[in-house]
Amino acid sequence: MIIGVPKEIKNNENRVALTPGGAQELVKRGHEVYIQTHAGEGSGFPDDEYVQAGASILPTIEAVYDKAEMIMKVKEPIEPEYELIKKDQLVFTYFHFASYEPLTHAMIKSGAVCLAYETVEKADHSLPLLVPMSEVAGRMAIQEGAKYLEKPLKGRGILLGGVPGVRPAKVLILGGGVVGTNAAKMAAGMGADVTIMDVNLPRLRYLDDVMPANVNTFMSNEYNIRELVPTHDLIVGAVLIHGAKAPHLITRDMLKEMREGTVLVDVAVDQGGCIETCKPTTHEDPTYVIDGILHYCVANMPGAVPYTSTLALTNATLPYAIELANKGWKKACKENRELLLGLNVIKGDVVYEAVAEAFDLPFVRVEEHLI
Ligand SMILES: NC(=O)c1ccc[n+]([C@@H]2O[C@H](COP(=O)([O-])OP(=O)(O)OC[C@H]3O[C@@H](n4cnc5c(N)ncnc54)[C@H](O)[C@@H]3O)[C@@H](O)[C@H]2O)c1
Repeated sequence: MIIGVPKEIKNNENRVALTPGGAQELVKRGHEVYIQTHAGEGSGFPDDEYVQAGASILPTIEAVYDKAEMIMKVKEPIEPEYELIKKDQLVFTYFHFASYEPLTHAMIKSGAVCLAYETVEKADHSLPLLVPMSEVAGRMAIQEGAKYLEKPLKGRGILLGGVPGVRPAKVLILGGGVVGTNAAKMAAGMGADVTIMDVNLPRLRYLDDVMPANVNTFMSNEYNIRELVPTHDLIVGAVLIHGAKAPHLITRDMLKEMREGTVLVDVAVDQGGCIETCKPTTHEDPTYVIDGILHYCVANMPGAVPYTSTLALTNATLPYAIELANKGWKKACKENRELLLGLNVIKGDVVYEAVAEAFDLPFVRVEEHLI
């Protein structure tokens, strides 16, 4: 198969969909890989590393789209890319269709086959191509939180791990899923006094088993959150209710109970945030202060660490990309249900029910395209 990897053009997106190592794995299996010049530079992969891996470099984004049977990307296509996508071309990337109607219509019009990273799903309902970004964001939440607790950055001026004779900072994590668990691990490793809250009791049991002694678990409800909020220095929002907006667990009135310089990191901002006063921010201007409380609400946290994020993402996507390249999308999706669930739009038809429902579009069963 001919695989094309364009350079991401979304503002400040430095990740790339394929590493030189990934390109080599595809080339080894007899596929042709075309990389747009400079596509990997933001993640630390220069063109010559791709060439050494057996890929070819193309000078323009147009040339990549023109040549490829399968496009591998990171972010959802944005407007200038809509026209470049060809009929019958397979596009394997994040789409997040339900959150942007114009993209959905553009992909229907393109006649392409759109396989979305975010809906590839395992039998246990986990989302293997979302997990790596949650791992990055969870770990980063503590790194950023620790930084913004510093006084010059408007924080309380408390060191996360304390020092001998001085108590460590108190970290509260709302949600014990992938983001929350990774945040708890980092905070615990830095010596903080950590509490992780969830509504899922089996999950709390599991966390209690695997976490070190400086991590406590606590049932999440309004009463318990109100009790803990005034005494914690760093609060991380890491809640997710599948298919719904995040609930506001920290309400505006709770800010008055917090100490000045408390830091709130709302990782769930991409689902509306679990802190009422959260609004999306960017890496250029990541924080703002309300009632003396510092808010960090960057919607694409992994974008700040493109080297780690690219490797984490491609470790997860490459096995699927190899399967798609080896078998073609139809056979690969027939034989692998995880990939089948990634299909959202096929040649003008919406085949993912939630996307059809979101925009009141006709829904076509995916099986009709697999005959
Ligand atoms: N900002 C970013 O850059 C970024 C990056 C990756 C993920 N995210 C977001 O982070 C959020 C968490 O993702 P995840 O992968 O950890 O999800 P996950 O499904 O693994 O975990 C979510 C957890 O929240 C718990 N939960 C649900 N309701 C709760 C409540 N009322 N109180 C406490 N816990 C509750 C669930 O039981 C679950 O354990 C998502 O919104 C995701 O989109 C953001």
